[in-house]
Amino acid sequence: MPHDGLIEPLRILAGFPTYSKPKENKMTMTALSEPAAGSPAPESAEPDFTAIKSKQNAAWSSGDYAKVGVTLQITGEELAEALNPAPGSSVLDVAAGNGNATLAFARRWCDVTSTDYVEALLECGRRRAEAERLDVAFRTADAEDLPFRDASFDAVVSTFGVMFTPNQRKSAAEMIRTCRSGGKIGMANWTPESFIGSLFKTLGKRVPPPAGVNSPALWGTQAWIEEQFSAEAQDITMKLKSFNFRYRSPEHFIEFFRVFYGPVRKAFMALDKGEQIALYNDIHATIQRFNVATDGTMIVPSEYAEIVITKR
Ligand SMILES: C[S@@+](CC[C@H](N)C(=O)[O-])C[C@H]1O[C@@H](n2cnc3c(N)ncnc32)[C@H](O)[C@@H]1O
Repeated sequence: MPHDGLIEPLRILAGFPTYSKPKENKMTMTALSEPAAGSPAPESAEPDFTAIKSKQNAAWSSGDYAKVGVTLQITGEELAEALNPAPGSSVLDVAAGNGNATLAFARRWCDVTSTDYVEALLECGRRRAEAERLDVAFRTADAEDLPFRDASFDAVVSTFGVMFTPNQRKSAAEMIRTCRSGGKIGMANWTPESFIGSLFKTLGKRVPPPAGVNSPALWGTQAWIEEQFSAEAQDITMKLKSFNFRYRSPEHFIEFFRVFYGPVRKAFMALDKGEQIALYNDIHATIQRFNVATDGTMIVPSEYAEIVITKR
């Protein structure tokens, strides 16, 4: 498998099937791993969101998320079907990465503005849109401070994007603000008990997130979505769906994510060799808990919430 040379392959060292017990580690590299408890952090302990965001930006900019993003395409297509946009609708894709939801809505003749705070990922999205001759506008933007006027869009969407912002109230408020009255807000968010929710918990045991930051997986819970959106919503529907992570083997998945998926990559880089092997074994054990493949390959269903909100 392709390798960028920055991280030494661990598979040979990992020594399956021995799984080490997690031990405490004080490093807080990515701020993307999951707090131990899945509940909101206390309001009083407001963390330094700017510093956290800059570390997160570095994490998403590292590796090559675009290689992961293309595998998730079906979730963008399904969200677009769920929103059922009229051709010509204006759609804002927030934290769009390399264009998962962006392309799905553009393929349905929507006027899409694709935004992310990692310019290199937007560039990948631009190339994908060009290859399909789709007209899409691209703009670098922070999901917590969107550079658009109130009520600018018929729909505001995010697939597994806005859920990773540290100031969750702010990014939810920005989605509401930029959507017009009667318009739709659509999201796909991993649930706390999902494979990806569990993966972030696994990372968080060895590279804890900074104090005061809520779990991203709160965005996959009905209580949180209602708390953030119900005051401004005519209607909220939330459907639990499943995305299958299909890889050649569990080892292939770990190597792929360790090299290309920024948060996993940064977690490995924050650890010494022994701890890297232990993390590798932890992730392997997490995969085995979910894997339904019986032929040595990996088919891991990961639950997510597909959310459609009609703005009041
Ligand atoms: C898991 S990826 C999802 C990308 C894409 N929506 C998809 O479905 O493939 C998370 C994305 O959120 C972006 N992101 C995280 N925090 C952000 C913020 N505060 N502002 C803008 N983008 C952000 C990252 O750069 C990354 O592209």
